[in-house]
Amino acid sequence: MLEIVSQNFSDLKAPNVEIKQFPDGDSYVWIQDAKKAEGKDVRIFHRLYPDQNSRIFELVLIANILKEHGVKSMELVAPYLPYARQDKIWKDGETKSAEVLCGFLHELGIKKLITVDCHFIKKEGPYKCRGLEIMNHSMSRALVEHAKSKFGGEEFEVISPDRGASYLVEEFGGDSMKKTRGDYQKSGDEAYRTIEKVEYKKNLSGKNILIMDDMISTGGTMIRAVENVKKNGAKKVACCAAHGFFLKESLFKLRTGSDGVFVSDTIPSPVSEVKFMDEVKL
Ligand code: R5P
Repeated sequence: MLEIVSQNFSDLKAPNVEIKQFPDGDSYVWIQDAKKAEGKDVRIFHRLYPDQNSRIFELVLIANILKEHGVKSMELVAPYLPYARQDKIWKDGETKSAEVLCGFLHELGIKKLITVDCHFIKKEGPYKCRGLEIMNHSMSRALVEHAKSKFGGEEFEVISPDRGASYLVEEFGGDSMKKTRGDYQKSGDEAYRTIEKVEYKKNLSGKNILIMDDMISTGGTMIRAVENVKKNGAKKVACCAAHGFFLKESLFKLRTGSDGVFVSDTIPSPVSEVKFMDEVKL
């Protein structure tokens, strides 16, 4: 299998695609060894975050270059799938962007997507969406293993901050907190539903707690979850996720508010302490 590696994968593999920007912001892609793709099965390693819209268009160019050189088939390793959060239509006039992107990748000629803790799938294993074959891997076991160092060898319980992430913690006998969201903010350009509450009713006196989610984006969910678990008497609270965006100073807030925060390197960050490639069997 021929590997085509984007520069945004250079922390894990030697890149062989040149991606630049024209002065006006258009993307430029050059694959020096494109001829080698003729008649071959190709695996593309290309992160689709941060700056997802540009990353997706770069992929369009990569796939087209490979097709123009007679590639036989294409797989994509993209550890975080953007647009995966809108998998429902809340009000008429919206669309399921998760399905739109999967359909688009399929039409682009991507036979299979290899990804990690894809938000709308909520389980490990093979899945199909709008013609696209997906292999969804989970970081949950590796995150729990890594958490042992955060609690100095002491026992800990694993919980998720909402029911959507319960699939991550069930294997460890973990429970889920209850998250209440507000409505979309009325003003400004940001499409964001505020987090009103993240609650756990049980007494956690003296217990060590690991809170695990699929992603930490603005941190609104995790910050409230940590506060609530502490309020319920927990001894030590660490938090983790497969994907860490850490927007809006949330990394600073979680570092100061908890006994440890860490994520995997699906999106590189200062606390990407767990390697996703160790969990992805290719
Ligand atoms: C939501 O259902 C997800 O699983 C995460 O809980 C959420 O997207 C995290 O976003 P934020 O960090 O902005 O609260």
